[in-house]
Amino acid sequence: MKQIFIVIIAALLALTACTKKEAEVKPEAAVKVDSAKCAKPAGKEFEMYEMSEMAALMEQMYVDNLRLKERITKGDTIGTFPQHILKIHSSAMTDESENDAFFKLQAAKFIKAQEQIYNDPKNAKQHFNDAVTACVKCHQGKCDGPIPRIKKLYIK
Ligand code: HEC
Repeated sequence: MKQIFIVIIAALLALTACTKKEAEVKPEAAVKVDSAKCAKPAGKEFEMYEMSEMAALMEQMYVDNLRLKERITKGDTIGTFPQHILKIHSSAMTDESENDAFFKLQAAKFIKAQEQIYNDPKNAKQHFNDAVTACVKCHQGKCDGPIPRIKKLYIK
């Protein structure tokens, strides 16, 4: 009788251990690439997503602007314009056909807006929000996946 009891307890322990493991694995599986709607090479849906030079630059710009937002809201100094942003004109894209006249025009407008923040730091908040709008405008024409994330940059 005692032995059966031990077996049952052991089985129960094994079961709970398993369900625990499953719960731990879940969040990882839920990780999603938000550019999925931007440029996904056809037929590659189940392969690992490899970030293009442009996508990596975009992620960098996102982080840059998150930090800049913090500085502006805290009233810190603005610093200097991050030159790597100019690489938006030349970075390799997942789909090169996306580098069209619309993209080039929006890229130029975005750079201008972003430079304004550094040229006129007194009105940094306004210029910063204009730059975020420039991000959104290009994305509306190119890939709307990251837009909700980009909009979180706005300084209220
Ligand atoms: C001139 C157009 C344009 C502007 C301006 C622009 N983007 Fe993008 N963005 C794109 C394109 C096109 C892609 C897809 C790049 C690729 O897959 O090669 C992209 C991709 C992204 C991604 C997804 C990257 C990934 O993980 O795959 C994020 C996030 C992003 N942009 C944020 C921003 C932010 C933040 C700004 C402004 C600071 C911005 N974008 C300005 C066109 C633009």
